[in-house]
Amino acid sequence: MNTVPKYWVIIAAAGIGSRMQADKPKQYLMLDDKMVIEHAMTPFLDHPLIEEVIVVLSKNDYYFKTLPIALHKKIASTEGGDTRAQSVFNGLDVLLAEENDWVLVHDAARPLISREEVDYLMETLSEHPVGGLLGTPINATIKYVENNEVKKTVSRDGLWQALTPQMFRYGLLKQALAKYPSATDCSSAIEQLGKIPHMVEGNPNNIKITRPEDLRLAERILS
Ligand code: CTP
Ligand code: MG
Repeated sequence: MNTVPKYWVIIAAAGIGSRMQADKPKQYLMLDDKMVIEHAMTPFLDHPLIEEVIVVLSKNDYYFKTLPIALHKKIASTEGGDTRAQSVFNGLDVLLAEENDWVLVHDAARPLISREEVDYLMETLSEHPVGGLLGTPINATIKYVENNEVKKTVSRDGLWQALTPQMFRYGLLKQALAKYPSATDCSSAIEQLGKIPHMVEGNPNNIKITRPEDLRLAERILS
């Protein structure tokens, strides 16, 4: 086992963005001066501690290779799977990483991630045996609803929203995603393995572009 763990990055970009209802996958929509995916990858590309950035693309993706960043020497690509977890697993599969190395997994659909937040996550977790994720405490009042009938108000005590990047030890993450291919994020696969991820408070501006109004919100946050 190596003594000083290396850092690797996986960008999950193999989704089709069905909820966005655009004419191309949402990661290729323009936001300010560049595409969503270019924003999402920028903080990792010139990071001195990061070895390589694997971008996981869908089989029929012909957009990525047309981007200027596709030529960046730290980037390699591979093909995604049917679920996000399978896509991330495929990314792990091509890494020449050791068990104890760190893997940061980030959504191509989160363009507002900053270098400061990436560094904060890396620094906070550097000695952790498992890893963890960025998240924000839930501030809203949460209702449990069935057929538009409010059945109850759910206590928000202890509830956090999960963001990305999420950073885990390579060996553990690979094992977790192989076992739980339907997990909606890396953390939940690790949790199901019986391990305890560490929650790191992130920036609420680090939104995921899911629906058209999210892109407009991202534009407002940037400006
Ligand atoms: N993703 C992936 N492989 C999949 C599904 C999703 O790499 N099989 C990626 C997406 O590209 C996105 C991130 O995981 O960057 C978060 O997923 P989500 O927001 O659900 O994106 P989509 O699946 O593309 O959107 P939708 O669910 O609306 O179709
Ligand atoms: Mg999806």
